[in-house]
Amino acid sequence: HEWRDWLRALPKAELHLHIEGTLEPELMFELSRRNGITLPYADVQAVRDAYRFTDLQSFLDLYYAGAGVLVTEQDFYDLAAAYLRRAHADGVVHAEIMFDPQTHTARGIALDTVFAGLARALREARDTLGMSSCLLLSFLRHLSEDDAFATLEAALPLRETYADLWIGIGLDSSERGNPPEKFARIYARCAQLGFRLVAHAGEEGPPEYVRGALDTLKVARIDHGVRSSEDPALLQEIIRRQVPLTVCPLSNLKLGVVHDLREHNLARLLRAGALVTLNSDDPAYFGGYVLDNYIASAEALDLSRDELVTLAANSLKASFLPPAGRHALL
Ligand code: HPA
Ligand code: ZN
Repeated sequence: HEWRDWLRALPKAELHLHIEGTLEPELMFELSRRNGITLPYADVQAVRDAYRFTDLQSFLDLYYAGAGVLVTEQDFYDLAAAYLRRAHADGVVHAEIMFDPQTHTARGIALDTVFAGLARALREARDTLGMSSCLLLSFLRHLSEDDAFATLEAALPLRETYADLWIGIGLDSSERGNPPEKFARIYARCAQLGFRLVAHAGEEGPPEYVRGALDTLKVARIDHGVRSSEDPALLQEIIRRQVPLTVCPLSNLKLGVVHDLREHNLARLLRAGALVTLNSDDPAYFGGYVLDNYIASAEALDLSRDELVTLAANSLKASFLPPAGRHALL
């Protein structure tokens, strides 16, 4: 417990977190009642029992279905407020939060409903918890680039209203068969608009997708990126350029990216000099928030206290906070 308290007290940033993936079964049921939506589960336990995934797609199917209970501004507020409280309790001082607008607009939810609810929770966490956070609008890669452009066009009129929070864009959903090059034009446009760029790559997809995210999309960080180690030249470049990798160990375990945490390459990547960070991805679905990811990794991979300090420091270094903002949180 002493060790756990020490880990909790380390100031951490969470950089790879999907807000829809923080929907705990209890809140899913509460929102389904509030909105008169019938869930295909008898109770909370039945939901948890359904969370046995074989790969990314088997998770995404349930994750998108679960998000169907999110309807009102209050729902998005409740979702984000619960996450921020939980992350704060884990020693997270700064969170860069992805959200999937297309999952909601496809159901007829207005984009401003999503932004407004999330923003109210993030601003409240800043004022009441002293916790900083921001938003990364994530495009769904199984949809077309035109669909992503339509989403961007719909979101841009809101940019001023949420200028304190909406700082960047990301790319998530089904990776294989949806290479980064499919989104070359929209990434170029978002770069022009001054957004920070991240993308999922090298989770299930091959190292070529990490290469494409770096060279074609010109991202500042790679979400996951664990398959980069299959291409030694790519890995050397990631180390030399100190491109952050937002690794999510419990996610990788639940989705079968690794079969045993003791075989996870995050310790090897870290010891080779890569800028590795630890994150929770979709904690309500994968059975652990950020501190659980630190603890499970430390135990499985014999991480030293110095290595844990490095992982926590890396998370702040890899964040989009300006150096002055980072120091203010320590
Ligand atoms: N990978 C791809 N898409 C996602 C993920 C993930 O880990 N989580 C939520 N959407
Ligand atoms: Zn993710």
